[in-house]
Amino acid sequence: MTAAIRTAAKILCVVGARPNFMKIAPIMAALKRVFPPFDLVLVHTGQHYDAAMNDQHFADLGIPAPDINLDVGSGTHAVQTAEVMRRFEPVLDQQAPSLVLVVGDVNSTLACALVAIKKNIPVAHVEAGLRSGDRTMPEEINRVLTDQISDLLLTTERNAADNLIREGIDPARIHFVGNVMIDTLRHNLPRAIALTETVKQAGAQTVFAIDSGHYAVLTLHRPSNVDEPQTLRQLLQTIRAISAELPVLFPVHPRTREKIEHFGLTDVMTCPSILLLPPVGYLEMLGLMKDARLVLTDSGGIQEETTALGVPCITLRNNTERPITVKEGTNTIAGQNPEKILAAFREIMSTGGKIGRVPEFWDGHAADRIAVILRDWLAGPKVARVA
Ligand code: UD1
Repeated sequence: MTAAIRTAAKILCVVGARPNFMKIAPIMAALKRVFPPFDLVLVHTGQHYDAAMNDQHFADLGIPAPDINLDVGSGTHAVQTAEVMRRFEPVLDQQAPSLVLVVGDVNSTLACALVAIKKNIPVAHVEAGLRSGDRTMPEEINRVLTDQISDLLLTTERNAADNLIREGIDPARIHFVGNVMIDTLRHNLPRAIALTETVKQAGAQTVFAIDSGHYAVLTLHRPSNVDEPQTLRQLLQTIRAISAELPVLFPVHPRTREKIEHFGLTDVMTCPSILLLPPVGYLEMLGLMKDARLVLTDSGGIQEETTALGVPCITLRNNTERPITVKEGTNTIAGQNPEKILAAFREIMSTGGKIGRVPEFWDGHAADRIAVILRDWLAGPKVARVA
C-alpha cells in the first residue's frame, strides 16, 4: 500500500488533560515550521475543564484555541473513556486526517488512539514505551494499550525501546526523539513567574517568609495516594513534619482538595509553615520549582522537569515509569512510607541531593525531530499492519 504524497497532510492533534498541554505546544509549533507545513487540527476532549487546569495553560503556552472541543468532563474511567470515543468518532469522519497524534498516558490518549486505529487512520504516540510495571495505575494500562495499536512510537528515553520490543513491537516503528516537555521547559524558562508573584496573585496569606532556595514544593493527585483516607492522612502528616524544617508550598489538584475535605483532613494541612495554593499556571509552576530546595511529587512530568532543572525530587510513589530521572537525574523514589520520605528529605537537606545530568536529547529539539519523522513517514510507503 503506498500513500499518495500530499502537499498539506492533515494531522489531528489530541489533548485532554493538563499534562498533555505542555507536550502538544512545541509539537504543533514544529509541525507548522516543517516544509511542507502540515494542516493541523487541535481536538480537546475536555477531560480537564476547570479554568485553573486548562485555560491558563493554553494562554501560558501559546497553544491555539482548540478547533474542536468534545466537552466530555469527569466520570468513571469507563464513562470518561467511552464518552471520548463516542464523541471523537464523528470528528474523524468529518476531518478525515492523514494521521492522529496522541501524547502521554491519560484516558483521552487511549480513547482517541483506539477510535482512529479502528478506522485505519495511522496513530503516532508521543512519549511511548514508558513503563512503571504497576498495572494498578490507570496510566500504565493507557500506555501499554496505546503503544500496542500505534503506528509510530516516539520515545523520550532510550530504554523505552526495550520495553516496547519486549512487548512484541516492531523496532522499525520506534523512534527515539527526546522529550517534548523539556522543549517547553527550555523555551519558557526565561518567562517563569517569580514565586512571590504567584503567592501574591493567589491571594494567599503568607504566614512565613518564603526565601528563594529555602522551601519545598509539593504536588499530589494520584488515586493511589489520595483516594484512601489512611494513606492520605499519613502522607499529609509526613509533609507536616517536613514543614517544621522547610516551608512547604502546595498547589492543590481539585481531586486532592475534594479528598482532603471529604476525609476531614483539613486540620492536618492547617499549619503556619504550609501554604495551600489553587492549581497554578505553567509559568508559575516553573517559577516555584526552579527556586525550590526540593520538590515532593507523585506526578510523572514533574520528575522529568526537576531533572532538567537540576532540582532534587522526592517521588511519593513506589515506582516510576521514567527511570532515567533516577539513573541520570535528580529523582529519588521514596514511596508512601514516612520513614523513607523523611530519610530522603534529610539526605537532601544535608548533602544538597543528587547532582544529576540532563538526559540525552532533552535538548529543546525533540519536537523538530518528531516533525521530520512524521513528514517522511507520511510521504513514504506504508507497510500493511500485520499482527
Ligand atoms: C488525570 C490523568 C492523570 C494526570 C492528571 C493530571 C487519567 C487516567 N488521569 O488525572 O494521568 O496525571 O490528569 O492532572 O487520565 N477535576 C476538576 N476539574 C477538572 C478536572 C478534574 O475538578 O478540570 C476533578 C474532578 O473531581 C474529577 C477529578 O478531578 O473527577 C479527577 O479528574 P480526572 O480527569 O478523572 O483525572 P485526574 O486525577 O485529573
